[in-house]
Amino acid sequence: PSDALARAESLIALTPDFPEPGILFRDISPLLADAAALRAVVDALIEPFAGTFDVVAGVEARGFLLAGAVAVAAGVGTVPIRKAGKLPRPAASVSYDLEYGKATIEMAADLPEGTRVLLVDDVLATGGTLRAGRAVLAELGYVLAGTAVLMELEALGGQQVAGPVHAVFRV
Ligand code: PRP
Ligand code: MG
Repeated sequence: PSDALARAESLIALTPDFPEPGILFRDISPLLADAAALRAVVDALIEPFAGTFDVVAGVEARGFLLAGAVAVAAGVGTVPIRKAGKLPRPAASVSYDLEYGKATIEMAADLPEGTRVLLVDDVLATGGTLRAGRAVLAELGYVLAGTAVLMELEALGGQQVAGPVHAVFRV
């Protein structure tokens, strides 16, 4: 990676045993707080898809931290994919499995059918979230231009579930 990306990755804060014993939590907050690092990762998220999407969709909550920035940098708008019960006019709803229990995400149908969407989130872990994100977009007749995350946790095999996913960092 470039020096700027290597520096950005070094700003991810590692916390052992959070949120449970045995888990090494990678907190991207210090990276996002740094102007040069944020710029570098936003550019890297867009790079493979430049010119191929009309809007950026972020997945609540941490995906929102990137989606708006990516949209402004790419000169397009952004739309939310929200956790269930938050949207006034949900038009599509998809449930997916978490480590414990289930979650549901929803999206409104405010874009024309055929809109090309870049789907963005912070982390690809098991892939359940982004798989559900893809399903929501498909249900509404949107075209997936690509899927991009800041970080892929390779050992969890998320590419098999939600792939292909462009990851700026792989750990
Ligand atoms: C985290 C993370 C990704 C997802 C990745 O979100 O922000 O969205 O998990 O996991 P997966 O690939 O196994 O689905 P979380 O649902 O914890 O909530 P948040 O974004 O609202 O913090
Ligand atoms: Mg999330």
